[in-house]
Amino acid sequence: MSAAVDAVGILGIGSSLPERVLTNFDLEKMVDTSDEWITKRTGISERRILEKEKAAYELGACAAIKAIEDAGIRPSDIGVVLATTSTPDYLVPSTACLIQEKTGAANAAAFDLNAACTGFVYGLTVAKQFILTGFCKYVLVVACEALSKVVDWKDRNTCVLFGDGAGAFVLGPAEKGFGILDSYLKSDGSQGRVITLPCCHMEEEDIAKRAGKAKNVLWMDGSEVFKFAVKAVTDAIDGLLEKAHIKLEELNLIIPHQANIRIIDGAAKRLKLPDEKIYTNIHKYGNISSASIPVAVEEVVRAKRVKKGDYLLFVAFGGGLTWGSTLVRWNR
Ligand code: COA
Repeated sequence: MSAAVDAVGILGIGSSLPERVLTNFDLEKMVDTSDEWITKRTGISERRILEKEKAAYELGACAAIKAIEDAGIRPSDIGVVLATTSTPDYLVPSTACLIQEKTGAANAAAFDLNAACTGFVYGLTVAKQFILTGFCKYVLVVACEALSKVVDWKDRNTCVLFGDGAGAFVLGPAEKGFGILDSYLKSDGSQGRVITLPCCHMEEEDIAKRAGKAKNVLWMDGSEVFKFAVKAVTDAIDGLLEKAHIKLEELNLIIPHQANIRIIDGAAKRLKLPDEKIYTNIHKYGNISSASIPVAVEEVVRAKRVKKGDYLLFVAFGGGLTWGSTLVRWNR
């Protein structure tokens, strides 16, 4: 057991993106779409695609190694490796075990958590408990996703939206009043069939939805997900601010899951939020599921857009359906 701590902060950050860029113009040659349609309806210009022979966990391990170096700890100091992914390379072994091996976090427990695109926000909340209770001192949370392996490249409704990438945080003890202050997590399984990615079993409705298409691929009712997402973002922001007794004006930066610029703009309009309080990078990467928040946080930190004491709010939504948010007072 480690000594119980008062606060849990983000001690190290890393990210890793595949080198290969797939632009909207490239997609024009693959499906009946146009750069104009994709840009206008989604805000995406390009996305990164993992080489076919590479695994998502390799991207995750690369992000994790950078986060461990950034935290200035040894891999052997890590007590838990928690991987968030909805595109695991293997169901067994877990992505977390594969990353444990690659990073040399030999003393850690390792497991995966799947809350689709909300996975990283869920993961931070779970990871925090291990440290607060004294189970261990450091937890490595890694989001790694390769949506390119599960989309139907003939389906223009989905293939233009997604990309690949990974991001990681090392969490550990922080000064009281700093770090991860609070979180708000929700799910509604009754609406879950609006985004599906079957694995070991397919029900009749899954087969029907994919009629004429590749079988074990992502399927989505885009407009239903869109409506859910705008409500989910506003609920997760309002809900957490109320729970944590913080006012919207006190937030320095909101880092939302990057799924569609119109979802982000719609939520910002509802909340009357000025543009400079919301970070977006969707034009470069598309939707990289649970990795979108840590990749964005890494960019924000590298660009020196945050300073100690700033209030940051991460907000995400996705399959399940799941949604949630994390409030952080920057501790570095
Ligand atoms: N290129 C050109 N046309 C396309 C297209 C593409 N890539 N994808 C769909 N279309 C067409 C549709 O077939 C439809 O044509 P029709 O009217 O002839 O049937 C038309 O564009 C409009 O479709 P619609 O669904 O109304 O568009 P939209 O404005 O709702 O945008 C999404 C579609 C998918 C971009 C949008 O609904 C969305 O972002 N939803 C949320 C998805 C999401 O974030 N999922 C992940 C959650 S974590």
